[in-house]
Amino acid sequence: MKRREFLLGSGATAGAMGLGGLGLAAGAPELVVQPASFALRGQMTSGMVSLSPNAPPPVLYGKQGVDMRLPVRNTLPEYTAMHWHGLRIPNGMDGVPYLTQVPIGSEEVFDYEFTPPDAGTYWYHPHCMTMDQMAHGLTGVMVIAEANDPGFDSEQVVNLRDFRLDDADQFLPAYTARGAARAGTFGNVQTANWLTEPHYEHAAGSLVRLRVVNTDTTRIYKVHLNRSEVRIIAWDGHPVEVEVPMPSADEPLLIGPGQRVDFAVKMPTDEGQTVDLLAKFPGQKHRAMARLRAVGASVARDLRELRPLPANLAAKPDLTKAEVHEFVFGWTPESGQPNNGFCGSLGYNFWSINRTPWPGDAAQGVGPLATLEQGKSYVLRLRNESPNLHPIHLHGLVFVPLKSNLRRLPPLLTDTMLLLKDEVVEIALVADNPGDWAFHCHVIEHQKTGLTGFIRVV
Ligand code: C2O
Ligand code: CU
Ligand code: CU
Repeated sequence: MKRREFLLGSGATAGAMGLGGLGLAAGAPELVVQPASFALRGQMTSGMVSLSPNAPPPVLYGKQGVDMRLPVRNTLPEYTAMHWHGLRIPNGMDGVPYLTQVPIGSEEVFDYEFTPPDAGTYWYHPHCMTMDQMAHGLTGVMVIAEANDPGFDSEQVVNLRDFRLDDADQFLPAYTARGAARAGTFGNVQTANWLTEPHYEHAAGSLVRLRVVNTDTTRIYKVHLNRSEVRIIAWDGHPVEVEVPMPSADEPLLIGPGQRVDFAVKMPTDEGQTVDLLAKFPGQKHRAMARLRAVGASVARDLRELRPLPANLAAKPDLTKAEVHEFVFGWTPESGQPNNGFCGSLGYNFWSINRTPWPGDAAQGVGPLATLEQGKSYVLRLRNESPNLHPIHLHGLVFVPLKSNLRRLPPLLTDTMLLLKDEVVEIALVADNPGDWAFHCHVIEHQKTGLTGFIRVV
């Protein structure tokens, strides 16, 4: 079988065009997927995957409404494909193997080119050999700046993620079957930008935009900040239009894998004081993941000086005639093995959507979970039938949570809904981006053992 023969979706033709280093990307520097090593915890950890030999994947900067060209070169022996999480871009640029493109082979280049329609905090990661490459480091943050600057003095990106290392600081297997069938396999080294408790200097009294991104394969981070002059200004990329309560030690904010939160932070006015991003881990005290340290004489800014973030131009769903679609997330009745394509299988089926496990990356003959008509509004009812939490992510579209059987949900525009145990959530969206859009749990072990599907917009 050739890679091309697995192609499923409508976006595939456009995506395949960029295969093979056709030289479309003159002028844009290549993003080279490559082996790396880095001292994550004392000794050098080898066998990492990044875009440079000795550093984390860089923050990629773009601007709302301005074309971006991102040629991705694969220098690994395995296949890859790059996905731009949260961006509402054409299907052929979405980076999902078999659904939107042929996987990128060794020494091949795929030219990703798109115009980000929304400003905000996004991220990128492979969608082929996903478990392998993400667990070994290939998760980076993407910042799309507003056309008009909201008035911060500086910004700080914090990429939260775990690594799973042995005593010699080398990688342990990224997953266990036991973990994959439950909450996932957790890392044992928690990092911010691949560092343990990094300190970042920002001017005393200044206004910092703190962009926190959970790019971990498994862990739901529970965070709060040690300061009160802080506000949440964006959630999963999009400006918040309602008052969101600030998290506290007792009620930390749950950030699931794939989710992002932007804080507006007023730095302390005294040099040396810090703003700490704190996280809670089972059986431990709160721990600083990263600290922003005030330096110099106070520049005496005030949070009220910030201009509100302009809303992104996502269409608002019309609930009066929205059709309802049901999705059930749970274990799978089938115990068969997923087929192994070019994008890595974990070798098990544990999970399912609507009782059907995704049959592996190279799934053929698997239809969409739902077919939506372009331009129409829909309500999706998401039911978690398992005791585990699932950050359910939809590509290419944004949605707004309507209600839950367990809690009050603020109507925050998002692409990833963290479903709690036994939770039923209704979300609404406008199907305004045509194509086949992956719909899956962002606990990668769940994604790769069945909890995946796609939604078609025609
Ligand atoms: Cu962030 Cu389908 O992924
Ligand atoms: Cu995504
Ligand atoms: Cu899950």
